[in-house]
Parts: sequence; structure tokens; C-alpha cells
Amino acid sequence: MKDKNRAKQRIEELTKKIEEHNFHYYVEADPKISDYEFDRLLDELVSLEKEYPEFKDENSPTQRVGGQVTKKFPAVRHKYPMYSLANTYSKEEVIDFDKRIKKAIGESFEYVCELKYDGVAISLTYENGRLVRAVTRGDGVTGDEITNNVKTIPSIPLRLRNEPPALIEVRGEIYMPHGSFLKLNRQKEENGESLFANPRNAAAGSLKLQDSSVVAKRRLECFIYGLAGDNLPYPTHWDCHKELKSWGFRVSEDVRKCNGINEIFPFVDEYEEKRGSLPFDIDGVVIKINSFDQQDRLGYTSKFPRWAIAYKYKAERAGTILEDVLFQVGRTGAVTPVAVLEPVRLAGSTVKRASLYNADKLEELDLHYNDYVYVEKGGDIIPKIVGVDTGKRESRARKVVFAKKCPECGSELAREPDGSVHYCPNSMSCPPQIRGRIEHFISRRAMNIESLGQGKTELLISKGKINNIADLYSLDYHDLIGLEKLYKDPENGKQKRISFREKTVKNILSAIEASRNTPFDRVLYSLGIRHLGETMAKKLARHFGDIDKLMNASFDELVAVKDVGEKMARSITAYFENRGNTEIIERLRNAGLIFSMHSSAEPAGSALDGKSFVVSGVFEKYSRNEIKELIEKHGGEVKGSISSKTDYLVAGEKMGPEKRRKAEELQVPVISEKQLEELISKG
Ligand code: IVH
Repeated sequence: MKDKNRAKQRIEELTKKIEEHNFHYYVEADPKISDYEFDRLLDELVSLEKEYPEFKDENSPTQRVGGQVTKKFPAVRHKYPMYSLANTYSKEEVIDFDKRIKKAIGESFEYVCELKYDGVAISLTYENGRLVRAVTRGDGVTGDEITNNVKTIPSIPLRLRNEPPALIEVRGEIYMPHGSFLKLNRQKEENGESLFANPRNAAAGSLKLQDSSVVAKRRLECFIYGLAGDNLPYPTHWDCHKELKSWGFRVSEDVRKCNGINEIFPFVDEYEEKRGSLPFDIDGVVIKINSFDQQDRLGYTSKFPRWAIAYKYKAERAGTILEDVLFQVGRTGAVTPVAVLEPVRLAGSTVKRASLYNADKLEELDLHYNDYVYVEKGGDIIPKIVGVDTGKRESRARKVVFAKKCPECGSELAREPDGSVHYCPNSMSCPPQIRGRIEHFISRRAMNIESLGQGKTELLISKGKINNIADLYSLDYHDLIGLEKLYKDPENGKQKRISFREKTVKNILSAIEASRNTPFDRVLYSLGIRHLGETMAKKLARHFGDIDKLMNASFDELVAVKDVGEKMARSITAYFENRGNTEIIERLRNAGLIFSMHSSAEPAGSALDGKSFVVSGVFEKYSRNEIKELIEKHGGEVKGSISSKTDYLVAGEKMGPEKRRKAEELQVPVISEKQLEELISKG
């Protein structure tokens, strides 16, 4: 009983602490503890909640990592409608708006100017300070309830501070910052999936995912800009902002109280300048009447408030010549059209290329070679072609058609059954696919054979030493020593000489050796099956348990797995139907790679017999638990604290200084995850 009470108390204490630090980190952007210390508090809460599920709160900070799956988002009617905003691109119309206001309420009023965030509008309901519902705008009257997904967004408080009213409904915008957007599209590109055209689409798409743990990884953010309700006890929008902030909401600092129309335009112009350097997209400025009394007197039309207007920035646009269209082949064989443009200045940078996404986009634009095209960067980060001046087209101009054959290997291109992506089916011998698949296989998040970078891989391919991922495991010292090549670094275009000397060769061979311990889910991800990202590889590995069961799974068995769509199921069956792929898997299996979830539970070796380890920090390749499993699997034991009996401290990033000091004091060797792998492989 005593234990139980203590656990309950500690859970409450940890919850409060974590919420507090979350607020400092995400709302105030002023963290008070290191990420590592934060993770430790969260780890402790996770394990206490596991042990005492009866004390787990629905709004516990552990909910941020997601896990709940929503099959269908229920439609919910808004208590207060979610209005849209009248908008304009013309300053004259803003002046007209000001005249209308003056006519209706006289000369004495203030404006508040804010940014118009380009994301997804959200309505959040809090009862007794706890988030109970998150609903999208929908048609303004009814929206979709997406509470589980919204709970994963760290800047949205799950419990409020400073005693807000018992029932409140706040309004804001969920958006995807540029950094998260670029990372997401990079991953999608690697997985051969079609890209999101802009951060707004990416945010909207993420919020509609069924699995909230995937939403958690999308790193969405939110600004709250208003409170809905009648007879609010705050006289102005400005006061309301302050109140929202005190309750723990993330409210933008980029707001200004303006006395009259003449103070509005400097704000508008200032942010048009700053727009390019903000870490998120905005598409204009919202101008609102500050006093709630005056807002009420002005009222609403059927769609818009009469007390606010959005001034939208024009997308910056430039005209240039379409010199060529390239068809780029990615590692999974997906072919993407890219426009090559006569260089043109646009929104502070020179644009030479623009993405054309896919065949449909190409068709929609009806592009011809040498066309005069318009390029826009309307806040979006990737320039895009938005139109063609057909009047300037030469009469005999040739229409751009999607390539029929792979520009790299000449194979006839195929199209996904849903028509979205063209791809080269010659996966075994198309050069960028060979290179891409090996590069993916050795990458950090896959098998982590870091000593082999892009340049060295290319050298091995060009010398005929490797042609596929299985060949890596047949390499020996004599294959490598003395190989040499000049290599152009794609990052900076500089020439580098790569030569395989004694030390390089040893590093490569021991990294390959160590990679044999990689767990099954990662091996599965490393194979580079089209559309199979890290998360789904994990799910499939857990679901089927080993590669044979996965290989023998029918299309129907695959789509029956949570979150496996038809596209992914087709891609998986096609992969295993290809003899070349199954042969490679057999060779990898013979090389000792792990193809079963269960093999990690069985003792795999005795390399670490009798050795005692302490594990601390955040690791690149493995989670902390995976490191512990790896040690135990090879006969070592893992302890919670360092003592004179500790043989090694396995240290990741952000390890607490206290642990390092203790290790130094007791002369315990500190090793990295890589050195641990080497310790295992050397036996
Ligand atoms: S106020 C009744 N403020 O713009 C007034 N909206 O075109 C309702 N938006 O659906 C909106 N930033 O998604 C307001 N600072 C801001 C905004 C903002 C972005 C979006 C919001 C709304 C749309 C209306």
C-alpha cells in the first residue's frame, strides 16, 4: 500500500515537472534542463505508469509519443462556428475596410496585427484545465475530431496552468515548420514515396494519419490566436492573448497593437521582408479590432467577421525559360521529373531547378521545351512552376512528355497501379538503383556501416567489388587494400582522393562485421523495399516475427496488418516475387544477419561473458533498450549505476556529466555504441 501511495505521488510529481519543462522548452523556448535529463524524467514516468496503470492519466505527458489509432475521425459540431476571414491582396481594400469600421463605430479604436500562419485551423476544448477535444475547422460548422493526434504536438498543453475558466475553447493554427517539412520529404524521397508539395499539405496530411505515433514524429507546432465564447471576461483581444499565454498556450510574439491604419502598413511591410527568414510559412497578416465590445458591435456576415481582414502577400513570381526536363531515378527506381531553368532571381535566391512532382503535374502544365514559364516561391520552400505564357511559345515547340525509358539503363518504365509514380523496374542492374540501394543499406539509420561513405561505395562498385548489398559480406582484406580513386564530393563539388590504406580497410571490415548484430526490424528496413519506411518495417517485423513468414504472406494477409495499405502490400509482394531479391536475402542469411525477432532473445554469443556494463545517454543506431538487449544477448549484464565492478560505460550523446565524472574517477572505460559492436564482433 505504501509503495502504491508513493508511486501515485511520484507519478503526480513527475507529471507536473515534465509539464513544466515542456512549457519552458516548447512555449517559452527557454529550456531549463538538458534533453537527456528530460528524457530520464519521462522514462521514469513511462515505467511507473506501466507498473501502476491505474494511476495513468489520459492527459499524461507520456501521451505525447502517441500510440492510439483512430480508424475514423468522428464529425463534431462546433459550439461556436469557426469563421473564415475576408481577404485581400490590395492595400486600397485595407483602407476601405478601415473606412467601413470608422463609419460603423467612429474614430476611437485600436487594431491588433498578427501573422497569418499557413497551416490547419484547430479548435481545442479544455474542461477544468484539461484538453478534452481537438476539432478541425471542416466547413466551419462541423469538423473532424482528431484529439489523439493533436495530443502528440508538444506545444499544445494537455493540462493548463494558472486556473483558467472551467470550460474554454481556444482557436489556433497547427503548422509544420520548415525543418520538419524538409526532413519529412527527404525521408519520403528515400522511401520512393511521392512528396508533399508544401508544409501546409504536410501538416494537414499528418493530422489525418490513423496512427498517432507517426504523427508524433512529424514535429508539428501550434500557435494559439484566439478564444471562442460569449461574454468573455477580458475587454480586448490583446488582454486575451496575455491570458492565453499565462495558461500555458504558445502565443506568437510577432503581434503588434496599432493605432489606426497608418501603423498597420509598417507591420505588413516589415513581415513581408522577414517572411523569408521565418522558420514557418505565413501567407499574410491578419488585422483585427482589439476591443471585444467593438467586435460585437461590428458583428459577422454569414462567413466572415466584419471586425477583421486578412491582407495576403502576393507569391513572389519570376519568368524564365524552361531549358530542359530531366528524369531523375531514385534508389527505389522512382522517376521524378525536374525542370531545368534559365537561372533567375526569386525571393532572395537564384532558382535553376523546379520540381515537377509527377506525370500528372507535367500533363496539367502542358509544358513545351523552351517555354516561357512562371516560377513561384509563395512562401513555400521548393520553387514550383505555376504557369506558362503560351503566347511566347514557338510554333514548332516540342511538347514535354514523360520519359518512356529509364534515362540511366534504358529499361521501359512502369507505372504504379494508382498512376502516381513512374519507376524503372530494372532494380537489379540500373546503376542509380544499385548505388542507391547500397547507400541506403549502409546508412546510419539502417545497418550503420558508416566507414563506407558514398565515395567509397562508388569506388567499390566501379572496381567491380560489389554489385549488391550481399556482396559486402564477402569482402576481405585483399579485395580492398590499395584501391584508389578521385571522387567528386556531391556536397561541395570538390575533388577528393580516396585510397584504401590499412586503417581504412580494417575500419570498413570491422564495421561490416559489427553490422551482423543489427536487429531484424532494421535489417528489414535496410533492404530498401519501396514504400517501406522505418516505422512500418518495425511493425511488420513484430507482426510476422521472421522473414520467412513475411515472405510467404499473401497480399490479403499483408493488408490485414494495421496501417499496411494496398500500395505497400503490392510493393512487398513484388519485392519477394523477384528471384534476385530472394537470392540476396539467402546470402545475407548465410552471412549471419538477423532475420527473426526471436533470435535477439536467444543467447547469440558469449563475447561479453562475465562483463558488467552501464548504459547512459541517447544513441544513434539503437534505443537504450536495444543496447541493453544487445549486451545481454551476448552474455554481458547491465547495471543501473557505476561501481568499481563496472567493466564498461556505454555512452551516447547527452550523457549526464555526473556519470562521466564517476567513470573517470573509477577508471571505467567509456565506449561508444560502435565500440560496443566491435567488442562483440571481436569476441
Ligand atoms: S482569426 C474569426 N488569426 O486563416 C476569425 N486566423 O482565412 C478567425 N489563420 O481558418 C480566424 N492565422 O486557419 C486568425 N492569426 C490568425 C490566423 C488565422 C491563420 C487562418 C485560420 C482561418 C483562416 C481564415
